[in-house]
Amino acid sequence: MPFPEVRTRRLRRTAALRRLVSETTLEARQLVLPMFVREDASEAVPISSMPGVVQHTRESLRKAAAEAAELGLGGVMLFGVPAAKDARGSAGTDPDGILNLAIADVVAEVGEELSVMSDLCLDEFTDHGHCGVLDASGAVDNDATLEVYAEMAIAQAAAGVHVVGPSGMMDGQVAAIRAALDRAGHDHVAILAYSAKYASAFYGPFREAVDSSLRGDRLTYQQDPGNGVEGVREAVIDLAEGADMVMVKPALGYLDVLRAVRESVEVPVAAYNVSGEYAMVEAAAARGWIDRDAAIMEVLVSTRRAGADFVLSYWAAEVAAKLPR
Ligand code: PBG
Repeated sequence: MPFPEVRTRRLRRTAALRRLVSETTLEARQLVLPMFVREDASEAVPISSMPGVVQHTRESLRKAAAEAAELGLGGVMLFGVPAAKDARGSAGTDPDGILNLAIADVVAEVGEELSVMSDLCLDEFTDHGHCGVLDASGAVDNDATLEVYAEMAIAQAAAGVHVVGPSGMMDGQVAAIRAALDRAGHDHVAILAYSAKYASAFYGPFREAVDSSLRGDRLTYQQDPGNGVEGVREAVIDLAEGADMVMVKPALGYLDVLRAVRESVEVPVAAYNVSGEYAMVEAAAARGWIDRDAAIMEVLVSTRRAGADFVLSYWAAEVAAKLPR
């Protein structure tokens, strides 16, 4: 060993030394659990492409939210699966729509112990499955969609949500939602913008989770996976429009974007460890091809290391149970 001064293994010799020099923390508060609630369910319905994840009933959702609070999670992100869909996604703006009822349920259950967040997008509620309303030619109509998002934001805020998460990638959505919330007296409701959101094949299992009716793709509004600089631009624009926090999604294929966004903005940055990333690990583990627990920790720690202040993950509750509070 000609250059003893370059030895790095010394600091890896014992578990205590490794713990001492560990750079990245993972704590329960840094995890957010996405959850689905289904209108017509009389019991929780398993999602076959996401083993271990269910479409909740209102009752089972309440219970899961109470457990999340008990575990010290940072928050929950709620998605609704309505019994009926239409072209305008009316169940999303209806105060008695499933997502708005579920928000009120969860807030009644956990109060301010947990940050209650809701996905603000139309794809779960439209019969065509797009994130916005369509014009006469069948294209997604940006500005008509903003009006529906504004209405949806007010309904979610009225239900008591703490943070809304606009995920539809319409131009001007953060500004439209901020203005609507403020006008309606909900200036205290924060916005977590899904800013750099890519048109990803890794959302596949999610589409089963929300019974999506989408045929086709979202390439006219979600980003091209090859565009990294544009991801930073999206985050910067959302901040200028009034976002309180920004998100990069998915996580694993986009760790470079996450790092770049983290270095470009001065607000908390989230990453969404999406359904397909979950399914890949679960599927490989089920075949004995991968060490499940180690892979899960590696995914979450790597996402934190790349720059996420907190991570949305379907493993949030399971992992939090093993973490410091
Ligand atoms: C849109 C939305 C999607 C996801 C979160 N919000 C689907 C999409 O954009 O097609 C995907 C989350 C996941 O895959 O885990 N409402």
